[in-house]
Amino acid sequence: MQNKEKRIELIRRAAEMLPLAYAPYSHFQVGAALLGSDGKIYTGCNIENASYGATNCAERTALFKAVSEGCRSFQAIAIVGGMDGEITDFTPPCGICRQALEEFCDSDGFEVILARPGEVKTWRLKELLPLAFSGDNL
Ligand code: THU
Repeated sequence: MQNKEKRIELIRRAAEMLPLAYAPYSHFQVGAALLGSDGKIYTGCNIENASYGATNCAERTALFKAVSEGCRSFQAIAIVGGMDGEITDFTPPCGICRQALEEFCDSDGFEVILARPGEVKTWRLKELLPLAFSGDNL
């Protein structure tokens, strides 16, 4: 379980990514900060595409950066987002990102940290993706 200071640090790192989001179509900017089991923080932002389906979410940007740098196990992710980068409410991870995280995270222990003004909430990945399909099913 992450302590309060670590959660705040992850939220801060996620928020720092908001100006880097490439979101000319939705104008909804998202930042993520993923804490590896190696203690390193991998950040990401959403990257949209004129062919909308080619868009990559902030969470998967962070995840793919991390895995491509050799980290394959994670402790927690913080996610923030909002229209034009203004955080007004929680930004929960989409279904594809939940599934992508499931591949590399212990869903009992992995924390999904969301923040909106004045409030931080933490969920276990297992709560957000119950009865997940995983490598164990193959
Ligand atoms: N988005 C994310 O980056 N993460 C999520 O989990 C939710 C959605 C992005 C994708 C798209 O660029 C924009 O938010 C609006 O859907």
